[in-house]
Amino acid sequence: MKILVTGYNGQLGYDVVHEGRKHDLEMVGSTIEDLNITSADEVTKYIHDLRPEAIIHCAAYTAVDRAEEDREIAWDVNVNGTKYLAEAAKSIGAKFIYISTDYVYEGIGDQPYTEDSKISPQSYYGLTKYEGEQVVQNLLADSFIVRISWVFGINGNNFIKTMLRLAETHNELKVVSDQIGSPTYTHDLAKLLIDMVQTNKFGVYQVTNDGYCSWADFAKKIFEVAGCSVKVEGITSEEYPTLAVRPKNSRMSKQKLIANGFEPLPHWEKALTHYINELKQEVQNGR
Ligand SMILES: NC(=O)c1ccc[n+]([C@@H]2O[C@H](COP(=O)([O-])OP(=O)(O)OC[C@H]3O[C@@H](n4cnc5c(N)ncnc54)[C@H](OP(=O)(O)O)[C@@H]3O)[C@@H](O)[C@H]2O)c1
Repeated sequence: MKILVTGYNGQLGYDVVHEGRKHDLEMVGSTIEDLNITSADEVTKYIHDLRPEAIIHCAAYTAVDRAEEDREIAWDVNVNGTKYLAEAAKSIGAKFIYISTDYVYEGIGDQPYTEDSKISPQSYYGLTKYEGEQVVQNLLADSFIVRISWVFGINGNNFIKTMLRLAETHNELKVVSDQIGSPTYTHDLAKLLIDMVQTNKFGVYQVTNDGYCSWADFAKKIFEVAGCSVKVEGITSEEYPTLAVRPKNSRMSKQKLIANGFEPLPHWEKALTHYINELKQEVQNGR
């Protein structure tokens, strides 16, 4: 099976390409230099030349705060770019996986969201990601929408890398403790996506590692696993203002994933331990 993965320079796209290769699939990872998804002509030509049997669309405008101001670019990448790819997929009959986010929900209460919970994005980024979902669903019956949250992977920046960098210069850190969600390790998610793309169980899914925590809990565990002696003080979202509103409740149920026979991802603490080892390995390999 020939699979195109957009966003190869990002966290998820990188791991999906490498996971697929372990399964002897023909993986093509595209960066913005190979294929700028905001150009309709470029997308049409690239997809018609390559003729993949499936597209796993991981590229996105992911700067959540900047998206509040750079609205045009965020829309162009997340909505128009997705539309061009979905149209091209339709014209060659390719399956399509669109990666979405917990930011499509209002993010209140304390119950896990399900795939059919009310949609109510509170940030511009969340709005563009939901519009991207709509574009895919309107164009393609044979598609998967996969909502994920709190992503960390070896390739690119994320909360864990930021915490470990801050640990080099701080003995104490203030971290938000009233936003609850689930980290998602791209290494684990990539395995699921490679499995999913080879099925016809199309639809909307929520996928994260198992278990819930706050960002402060997450930070504490990062320092414990990495062996850093940093004290974490929990603060409220109001004490850490950001341009874009963050969901306080990002809990997402994985029941639909399990009911459809997919292997759920391991607990986030297990994923974190694996990731810290992966980071140490990278350092040893001089990367
Ligand atoms: N990160 C999270 O916490 C999180 C949470 C929920 C959902 N998601 C979703 O998960 C997916 C993967 O996220 P990620 O963390 O892997 O993102 P990422 O590391 O930011 O990677 C996104 C990639 O998209 C590329 N890109 C941006 N504009 C493009 C364009 N016009 N044409 C082609 N490529 C373009 C970027 O290129 P450059 O490298 O050149 O910038 C980058 O490599 C995205 O759909 C994101 O919305 C992420």
